[in-house]
Amino acid sequence: MKVCVIGGAGYIGSHAVLELVKDGHDVVVIDNLSTGTMDAVDEKARFYLGDITDEIKLREIFTEETKLGHFDAVMHFAAKIVVPESVSHPLEYYHNNVEGVRIMLKTMVNQGIKNVIFSSTAAVYGDVKKDVCTEEDELKPINPYGESKLASERMIHWVAQAYDMNYCIFRYFNVAGAHESLKIGLKRDNLTHIIPITVQTALKLRDSMVVFGDDYLTPDGTCIRDYIHVADLAFAHVLGMKYIVNGNKSATINLGSSTGYSVKQVIDEVSLHLPVNFSIGPRRPGDPAKLIASSDRAKELLGWIPKRTLKDIILTDLNFRRKHEIR
Ligand SMILES: NC(=O)c1ccc[n+]([C@@H]2O[C@H](COP(=O)([O-])OP(=O)(O)OC[C@H]3O[C@@H](n4cnc5c(N)ncnc54)[C@H](O)[C@@H]3O)[C@@H](O)[C@H]2O)c1
Repeated sequence: MKVCVIGGAGYIGSHAVLELVKDGHDVVVIDNLSTGTMDAVDEKARFYLGDITDEIKLREIFTEETKLGHFDAVMHFAAKIVVPESVSHPLEYYHNNVEGVRIMLKTMVNQGIKNVIFSSTAAVYGDVKKDVCTEEDELKPINPYGESKLASERMIHWVAQAYDMNYCIFRYFNVAGAHESLKIGLKRDNLTHIIPITVQTALKLRDSMVVFGDDYLTPDGTCIRDYIHVADLAFAHVLGMKYIVNGNKSATINLGSSTGYSVKQVIDEVSLHLPVNFSIGPRRPGDPAKLIASSDRAKELLGWIPKRTLKDIILTDLNFRRKHEIR
């Protein structure tokens, strides 16, 4: 199949590109390199520097590429994703994340491209009150980032209905780890995710880390979350693309493991490799004790089951940081 990956130079998009290339697809990447890097893009993909909010540029690229063959699908990873920044700069988030999706969909409609795969997030659920989150749960984002993704989801739904298109929307939970080749992984500054922070602490790139609360109603008192390896997540996109291109009904699907690990378990796992200096701080407002994705739908519709474990996630992130000396 021929697929356009918008945002394919970023953390998750570059892994999706690799999985698509491995599965034998013809891959075109469009990215403005705002957070992504060229060296993350597999050399078998054709790269175009472009911004998804630039309608003229997007049309040019699609017109040029369509001469070589019609696109079967478009994948969208081209979002701004920093929650606190979305609170301080909401207009930028609505412009990039929502207007970008509108222009992408308009271009697809004009070019007759029928299938779209969209990266969404557990942030669309907001403050989840249940231990296990299903796709039917209430959608109530609590920040502009989550709102921008939900607005995009809804736009995709209505546009697909109006123009006879198919979509697969994936809501990710905690994505981490690096590719086993160690060529690509998470390089971002100001990381807020627990796994890279724990690994950075173990590598002495941080003096210490804080565990926010150890008095939750969980076996060891620390919060439990659902972690998914980025390569497993990326592979789900290949399955999702085949699913809709083969004529199945559009779907919105959680990508998680249905399994949870506590913050303490993450620290213990990293400590098997290197000691981690941490202290216990107060709870953060809004942090639920336990948040796990139901992955039943992903298994049922796509036959997707994550293969990698917490051990694999931590080891690949650790080795990636060591190899590239990434802070
Ligand atoms: N990383 C996570 O934990 C996580 C969790 C849930 C959902 N997501 C979603 O996954 C997607 C990818 O996230 P990521 O972690 O790979 O982020 P990332 O910042 O590494 O990747 C985003 C990519 O999109 C590009 N981009 C951004 N705006 C663009 C624009 N206007 N035009 C063209 N390219 C643009 C960036 O240069 C970058 O290469 C996002 O849609 C995000 O909402 C990520």
